[in-house]
Amino acid sequence: MSTRNTIILAAGKGTRMKSKLYKVLHKVCGKTMVDHVLSQVERLKMDNIITVVGYGAEKVEESIGDRTKYVLQDQQLGTGDAVERTEDLLKDIDGTTLVVSGDTPLLTSDTFEKLFDYHEQQQATATILTSIAPDPAAYGRIVRNDLGIVEKIVEAKDATSEEIAIKEINTGVYVFDNKALFKALKQVENNNAQQEFYLTDVIGIIKAQGDNVSAYQMTDFEESIGVNDRVALSDANRIMQERINRYHMYHGVTIDNPADTYIDAGVEIGTDTIIEPGVQLKAGTIIGDNCVVGAHSKVINSKIHDNVKITSSVIEDSEMMDNSDIGPNSHLRPESIIGKSVHIGNFCEVKKATIDEGTKMGHLSYVGNAHLGKNINIGCGVIFVNYDGKEKHQTNVGDNSFIGSNANLVAPLEIASHSFIAAGSTITDDLNEFDMGIARSRQTNKAGYYKKLPYNKE
Ligand code: UD1
Ligand code: CA
Repeated sequence: MSTRNTIILAAGKGTRMKSKLYKVLHKVCGKTMVDHVLSQVERLKMDNIITVVGYGAEKVEESIGDRTKYVLQDQQLGTGDAVERTEDLLKDIDGTTLVVSGDTPLLTSDTFEKLFDYHEQQQATATILTSIAPDPAAYGRIVRNDLGIVEKIVEAKDATSEEIAIKEINTGVYVFDNKALFKALKQVENNNAQQEFYLTDVIGIIKAQGDNVSAYQMTDFEESIGVNDRVALSDANRIMQERINRYHMYHGVTIDNPADTYIDAGVEIGTDTIIEPGVQLKAGTIIGDNCVVGAHSKVINSKIHDNVKITSSVIEDSEMMDNSDIGPNSHLRPESIIGKSVHIGNFCEVKKATIDEGTKMGHLSYVGNAHLGKNINIGCGVIFVNYDGKEKHQTNVGDNSFIGSNANLVAPLEIASHSFIAAGSTITDDLNEFDMGIARSRQTNKAGYYKKLPYNKE
């Protein structure tokens, strides 16, 4: 039986990133580079997917879990050596094997599929995915003979001045006849500028033994970029962002200024939603139909239902139901559930609180560790005093209650439905239904006092 296999190379440290984070764990539009590569590979039918890990092996495994098998390359002796680590799992299998790097996050399953097709058409033993780079810099160069037939790949550091001028580059992606690959790897040596076992040498070896090597040249160089440093990382982010934004626009989302809109991979947005400039929609976010996400809002891992209006606000790990609105300048911290038609105005903060349908909180309030029922009015500047310096306490407020402006509700508290709390009160005791709580000292007026002030003699 002929199989299809994939090897993802992800053992390198990524020295050129100058980072404590392992290279393939750097994110492009909110998703690690290795996850981007794996997600595209998963769209093809594969019998085996193996990731070669080394630097930060546990972290890489943790980030992609059981979606692949793993082999450890304990010393980073080069890409050829990395592939050879998979020998025990693959070498006796009939079939074709795709090799990809974990640092080429923009490549699509469509391109991989075309590469497989071309490999089969050409009846090749090895097929390289190549592209034409405007500035080939550090990429490996594709050396062809006078007839245009691929001879070998030469690394930039080992290239002659003639070879360095070649614009056709190795994208680091190949399809091999599986058994031929492992046979050729045995002959790879490390007598080169970097003293590494280069996978690229396998091409010359297969060619020299008289087998057919072909190259499939993709048209879009940008899709093939390898991320070795932070400049390339920012390029990859920009290109991926363009791709994501276009996808949403083609699916009925209005994006006012795509060049200044930051939507992570995997975010979902419903039709007729408008995304204003400067918005960031982070991983895990789902936005419904007919919403407006106002300029400079940031939504992190949250679910926003339909007809919701967000104005310059930050929402994290929370949920907003249909027809609710927030902002400008408010903040939903984790575990806030905002019910239907709830209004949260400006400068409010909500944390770990559920707010039921129709409740309104117009201005300058803090609600933390609370459950608010339906149709409650929270006056300006109300504070839920949830923390005693040691522990957090819960406050529950029943339906149709009225909390006057500048009240402090000192938790734990049970405020029954239809309660009324007078403005300026510091409430420490529970309230029964239909009661009013007032907790402030009475006003005293001192007659004529203004005139007694030393600076107001008249
Ligand atoms: C490699 C290619 C180069 C190509 C470029 C495309 C080689 C020798 N060179 O160069 O021709 O143009 O990719 O982007 O293959 N890795 C390991 N173990 C190792 C070394 C590397 O797993 O011992 C992994 C890295 O984590 C990385 C991938 O292999 O994901 C490629 O390695 P990298 O060092 O980035 O190779 P380039 O210099 O970019
Ligand atoms: Ca690379």
